[in-house]
Amino acid sequence: MTLLSKVSELRQWRQTAGKVILVPTMGALHDGHGALIKEARCLAGDDAKVVVTIFVNPLQFGPGEDFERYPRTLEADLAMCQTAEADLVFAPEVSEVYAPNRSIQVLESQLSRVLCGASRPGHFDGVCTVVAKLFNLTQPDEAVFGKKDYQQLAIIRRLVRDLNFPIVIHGMETVREPDGLAMSSRNRYLSPEERAQAPALRQALLLARDAWRHGQHDAQILRGMARDFLQKHAPLGREDYVTLVDCEGLEPQSQAGSDSVMAVAWWFGRARLIDNIEFR
Ligand code: PAF
Repeated sequence: MTLLSKVSELRQWRQTAGKVILVPTMGALHDGHGALIKEARCLAGDDAKVVVTIFVNPLQFGPGEDFERYPRTLEADLAMCQTAEADLVFAPEVSEVYAPNRSIQVLESQLSRVLCGASRPGHFDGVCTVVAKLFNLTQPDEAVFGKKDYQQLAIIRRLVRDLNFPIVIHGMETVREPDGLAMSSRNRYLSPEERAQAPALRQALLLARDAWRHGQHDAQILRGMARDFLQKHAPLGREDYVTLVDCEGLEPQSQAGSDSVMAVAWWFGRARLIDNIEFR
């Protein structure tokens, strides 16, 4: 496995790499990332190359968010990339990615108005900008993202469509702890008491999805069920949102159907946990 941190080195490596499958990350890798890299390895087979980028992107953090304290664990991350059989890790410094007088970025004006975007203005513009740059730098044929960040995945699909990147995007199922909590680099911010309540996110979503499977289609009732469950079983936290949207355009829905996704965000202290479930 090769480790590079300079754009010029990456450019040179890319010239002879052939087909590339990309897994963009911000590091602090856990088994969920491991699964993304292994999936990329499967897609790549013996011929194509798996590239993992590790870059904590300042542009996608708002004022007062956790950019400074976001965990940076490069040694352990490299070990995980090696185990999952990545071919190349690109881990640049901020100054390597952004010129001090940069003046151009990618703006998303529709899908980022709801869900996490509503409370994180500019976040998805930062994501789109860095992902577009990582696409340009690594020139992947395919890229793998997790469904846990459902809104991010939908926005990246839109980015690829609207800016004509010739890249196939794969969405991977969320990897969970044995008690159902979605794996996240931010789970480490939870106190033991909060951690004990955090699986309620998954349980609330399953409850609503099962009610839909049994014929309840009214979104307000389904959202109310999930919200009541969370208020009862995760009282150390508080709601950011409990929403039902369509899986592609992320438009809020009043009736649930087989294109629906229920998404929740629940604050535990300064940690905001998110999870979602596709109705099918
Ligand atoms: O999902 C993430 O880790 C980040 O948002 C991404 C896609 C690597 C962009 O910084």
